[in-house]
Amino acid sequence: MVDDGESCSNSSAAGGDAGGDAGGERWRLEGVTRSLEETWRLASCVAGVLRRGDLVLLTGELGAGKTAFAQGVARALRVEEAVTSPTFTLVHEYNCSFREIDTLLHADLYRLEAPGEVEELGLAEMLDYGAVGLVEWGERGVPVLGESYLEVHMEALDPGGVDAGDVGEYQEARLVTCVGVGRSWARRGDALRHSIEEYLLDRDVEGGVL
Ligand SMILES: Nc1ncnc2c1ncn2[C@@H]1O[C@H](COP(=O)(O)OP(=O)(O)O)[C@@H](O)[C@H]1O
Ligand SMILES: [Mg+2]
Repeated sequence: MVDDGESCSNSSAAGGDAGGDAGGERWRLEGVTRSLEETWRLASCVAGVLRRGDLVLLTGELGAGKTAFAQGVARALRVEEAVTSPTFTLVHEYNCSFREIDTLLHADLYRLEAPGEVEELGLAEMLDYGAVGLVEWGERGVPVLGESYLEVHMEALDPGGVDAGDVGEYQEARLVTCVGVGRSWARRGDALRHSIEEYLLDRDVEGGVL
């Protein structure tokens, strides 16, 4: 995990920058998951720092693992229903029960035709009522959905690339970059880093992978 502290004005260099809160406070953590299960574990670390009304933008190409990450968060928030991709309906709403969080929204803005349509989805109002929102292609919703959010950017690593190490072992590797933007996320970077470090102690991992 790399922690840039709070001096992350150049965080767009490695992806994971949806804009918003220009020049404001932000921190950035990044790491690699080697399988779907590891992405679920990382997602549960993120779920552990969520609060009512939070906005999480999931960004990255098709197939990067945004829906998989959302499923990991949903499981950690104890959503009982199956969480499926909201590609056609744009927004799914789930009951959940984790601390004070009782509603999870899972949206996908891929098929949004005009930026104005984001407002029509009513997501911002539901966040105001305390729902937690996970928004795939969420960069398309900034700044309508809010100026403070966690962006989780996912990127498949090229198995043949230098970053990926042994090809057989890292076929499913994803680079996951978490960027906390704005006031409501300003002080949660450390909590997330600690939670991920605990997870790493559990994980059978050679130095330098995450
Ligand atoms: N490390 C990983 N993290 C997340 N998904 C992974 C990983 N390795 C393989 N996968 C697979 O990649 C696919 C990701 O699909 P999906 O989550 O629907 O992507 P997106 O929503 O970004 O289009 C799933 O089939 C998942 O099983
Ligand atoms: Mg998806």
